[in-house]
Amino acid sequence: MIEKILTDFQRTKQDNNDDSLFYAQPRFVHHLDEGFRTRLTKFYKQLIPCESVVLDLMSSWVSHLPEDVVYKRVIGHGLNQIELEKNNRLDSFWVQDLNRAQKLPLEDSSVDFCLMVAAWQYLQQPEELAAELRRVIVPNGKLIVSFSNRAFWDKAPRIWIEGSDMDHINYIKAVLVSQGWSDIEYIAEDMGRTGIFKFIVKNSDPFFSVIATR
Ligand SMILES: C[S@@+](CC[C@H](N)C(=O)[O-])C[C@H]1O[C@@H](n2cnc3c(N)ncnc32)[C@H](O)[C@@H]1O
Repeated sequence: MIEKILTDFQRTKQDNNDDSLFYAQPRFVHHLDEGFRTRLTKFYKQLIPCESVVLDLMSSWVSHLPEDVVYKRVIGHGLNQIELEKNNRLDSFWVQDLNRAQKLPLEDSSVDFCLMVAAWQYLQQPEELAAELRRVIVPNGKLIVSFSNRAFWDKAPRIWIEGSDMDHINYIKAVLVSQGWSDIEYIAEDMGRTGIFKFIVKNSDPFFSVIATR
C-alpha cells in the first residue's frame, strides 16, 4: 500500500486536459538558462560514473549529461516522440504519460541513476512514481531531481504552484522518505548574475537539486 502525502486538492491543476495534448507539438527550446544547465552538467560529471545506466525521465530534445563521458546506456522517457528522437544522448526511449500510469517498462534494479529535470513539478501521483523508481533503481543507486523557479504553471499541480522554493524541496523529500528513499540531500543555489557586464544582465535561474539514495 502506497503512503499518500498529497491531498486530492493538492493534485489538481488549472489545465486538466490530457498532458499529452499540451506536449503534442515539439518545443525545441531550452527550459532552463545556460547558467543552470552548465551547473547541472558539472554536477552530473562529478556524481555519475561512466559505465552507469542512466534514466533521463521526463526528458526532451536535450539531456544535460556531459558530452565527454560515455555511459553504459542512457534511457530516455518523455511525452513528445519528436523531441526524444532529436535527443542524441539517448540510446533508447519511450513515451508515457506519468499522470495516467506510473508503472515503468523497466526491469527491477536495472538503472544506476535516474535524472529528472524541470519535471517533478508536473507530477500528480508522485508517491506511486517514487515507489516505482525505487523498484527500477539498483540498491545504492540515486535519483537526482533538479529544478528551478519556472514552470508551465497551468500544468503544475497546486502543491507546486502554491509553494516556495524551499517548500518544493521539502515536498519532494517528504514523498521520497514516504517511499523508503534514504540519505536525502539537497542543493539550493542562487546562481547570481551572468555575463561579462554583470550589472546589465539578468540573474541566472536558481539551481535546486534533491538527491536520494535507493
Ligand atoms: C519543462 S520540460 C523539461 C524537459 C527536460 N527534462 C529538460 O530539462 O529540458 C518538462 C518535461 O516533462 C515531461 N512531462 C510533463 N508532463 C508529463 C507527464 N504527465 N508524463 C510524462 N512526462 C511529462 C515532458 O516530456 C516535458 O518535456
